[in-house]
Amino acid sequence: MPEHDLKTVLITGASGGFGLEFAKKLELLGYSLILHGRDMARLQMTMGALKHPERHCIIQADLNAKHGLISLLDAIKEEKLTGLINNAGFGIWGGFEQTGIVPQIDVIKTDLKAPIALAHALLPELIKNNGFIINVSSLAGEYPLPYMSTYAAAKAGLTYWSEALRTELDGKVRIVTLAPGPSPTGFRIISGMPNSKGSFFRTPIPVIIDACLNTLHNGGGYCIPGWRHKLLYAMQKVIPRCIGLRIMAKQMRS
Ligand SMILES: NC(=O)c1ccc[n+]([C@@H]2O[C@H](COP(=O)([O-])OP(=O)(O)OC[C@H]3O[C@@H](n4cnc5c(N)ncnc54)[C@H](OP(=O)(O)O)[C@@H]3O)[C@@H](O)[C@H]2O)c1
Repeated sequence: MPEHDLKTVLITGASGGFGLEFAKKLELLGYSLILHGRDMARLQMTMGALKHPERHCIIQADLNAKHGLISLLDAIKEEKLTGLINNAGFGIWGGFEQTGIVPQIDVIKTDLKAPIALAHALLPELIKNNGFIINVSSLAGEYPLPYMSTYAAAKAGLTYWSEALRTELDGKVRIVTLAPGPSPTGFRIISGMPNSKGSFFRTPIPVIIDACLNTLHNGGGYCIPGWRHKLLYAMQKVIPRCIGLRIMAKQMRS
């Protein structure tokens, strides 16, 4: 690990998408970063996009592997962490009965179990350092999602857990629950969703990360970034579920 006096933040899933943008923005704010992911080549690309690579380090760990979480925690046990960004995550697109159970359970492990376990292990240090946690959830956590049912269940769990924790730890550690909608990252391809022209609600990555860090700066909170995602959230709340579910099923099938 590099020697420095900077405050340190662990970003899980730093090999692209939101994680890369978090890394770029947090470096500008003067943090030292622990970049976590699985794909070393992509993690090195994130490192290459940073201005001061000597301040940061990379840790590889598969959060679905038997010892993945333990090896990540072990690698950072000497670190004085100020921030934890639970960003790593993925979804599986497809009919539930046609999709194997192993990848479905892996979604729960990476998107829900890992954030809870990491926060629990790192909380004493984060509280001591007057730190923060950002939990990257999703608007999928606000609405059941046919053809991505397990992903929505994991994100609903993450949102509820994160919001309860935020209230419980008020004044001890700042927490942001980030709930974006569709965004142009690798997520869609990795989840196996069919190609599409792109949703009207798709919002640029920098808009999402700026909104999140702004919420953090203001003491934490529930963050729905950008007007398009706010509009989608409002629709989730006002359209009767029996109609909304049919619309979602049609959209997700195609
Ligand atoms: N893009 C969207 O539309 C959208 C909307 C709402 C919420 N989100 C959430 O945003 C977060 C970031 O995703 P993204 O959109 O930026 O997608 P992405 O570009 O695919 O990034 C996902 C990151 O998670 C890591 N990851 C996935 N499975 C992992 C595992 N088993 N162990 C360790 N790391 C793992 C990946 O690491 P490797 O590449 O090294 O495997 C990658 O760095 C996720 O939690 C996602 O659910 C995305």
